[in-house]
Amino acid sequence: MLKLALTTIAWVESLAKKEIEKQGGKIIEVKDRIILFSWEDTLLARINLWSRIGNKLYLVLKEKDSISNFDNLYALVSNIDWKKYIPKNAPIIVNAKTIKSDLSSEPAIQKIWKKAIIDVLNDKSWKFIREDDSIEKCEIQILFQENDCKILLNSSGEALHKRGYRIMTWEAPIKENLASSLVLLSNWRFQEALYDPFCGSGTILIEALMIAKNKAPWAKRNFAFEKWFWYDKEFLKKEKEEAIKKEYTQKYQIFWYDKDAEIIEKAKLNAIKAGLENEIIFEKKDFTDFSKEKIAWTIISNPPYWLRLKDENIDELYKKIDNFLKNNDELSWWIISSYQWWNFILNSQEYKNRKLYNGNELCYFYSKKYEQTFKKNLQ
Ligand SMILES: C[S@@+](CC[C@H](N)C(=O)[O-])C[C@H]1O[C@@H](n2cnc3c(N)ncnc32)[C@H](O)[C@@H]1O
Repeated sequence: MLKLALTTIAWVESLAKKEIEKQGGKIIEVKDRIILFSWEDTLLARINLWSRIGNKLYLVLKEKDSISNFDNLYALVSNIDWKKYIPKNAPIIVNAKTIKSDLSSEPAIQKIWKKAIIDVLNDKSWKFIREDDSIEKCEIQILFQENDCKILLNSSGEALHKRGYRIMTWEAPIKENLASSLVLLSNWRFQEALYDPFCGSGTILIEALMIAKNKAPWAKRNFAFEKWFWYDKEFLKKEKEEAIKKEYTQKYQIFWYDKDAEIIEKAKLNAIKAGLENEIIFEKKDFTDFSKEKIAWTIISNPPYWLRLKDENIDELYKKIDNFLKNNDELSWWIISSYQWWNFILNSQEYKNRKLYNGNELCYFYSKKYEQTFKKNLQ
């Protein structure tokens, strides 16, 4: 039985599971940063088009537990009908990842895979390459979680968080799938105004608008499976047509502020590329200018947690944020930061936090103690 596997960032597997189910996928297993679900022709295209949370969608070519030596691995790789999936002359790249497994040397695993596949294919025209982002390739991922081994074929190509709208970024831009996770973990119900006072490239607001408008996030990119000779391209065409029909035309109130005018101007290009610039109010604003105001909106934000500019004091900035949040009872707020001092002062009964990773950096996603609200209308 064929299976699909969606990889995610850590600690948001429940969101990814929910979006797979929403698209009709039947979950088989949820593990650390990977969700396995049953294969359907249309689902391969649909999840690639609709996943806001996933990293890459893979076809599971083989899986087996208790792979604890290279002979077992060689047998597993040799057992795959490679010619069924990989076109001749396609550059092939293999990546290995191991977590707490007996076979822990990733280069050695890659070597065994290559030996097995050469023996099976027995044909000199197959090309094996090392990492190279500039060319199209078939990417095989060998994943060991303890001794459970999965051999996966990447259907997405580039990671799904690369939606294609982000043409301008600054230091520490948040990944698109993390930004989507923040919106879905928040209690923003789309109706009240949403506001990011430290918007940088605007990723959180663009993802929020796409969720509110039920806009599939794929629009500006292609996928590796579009080149699969054995996959019917009609599925993708139909899924794209369906996705466009599902978009809502409703308008929302979105406020996009940053203290840097140049960042605002350049980041507008991202909103334009995403086709959402008409729905956003862009303004150059320093947080200091309105930190004494009373507002009753929703904030989802990613303030700086180290400083590029010498004239600013990070402790002072966080004290202002802290006072502002405490003085605005009607404000709903959700803030991701890895700033440790703030973590310390917020470590009270009033607030909760949730651990997340921004790239390799451990962060906390802070909020007041609202009821846990995963969005029911996740699409
Ligand atoms: C970590 S970045 C935000 C990254 C954003 N989430 C993204 O994906 O690009 C923080 C942003 O806060 C802005 N900033 C720093 N101090 C500020 C202040 N006092 N008022 C308003 N914006 C500020 C910076 O210019 C920067 O763009």
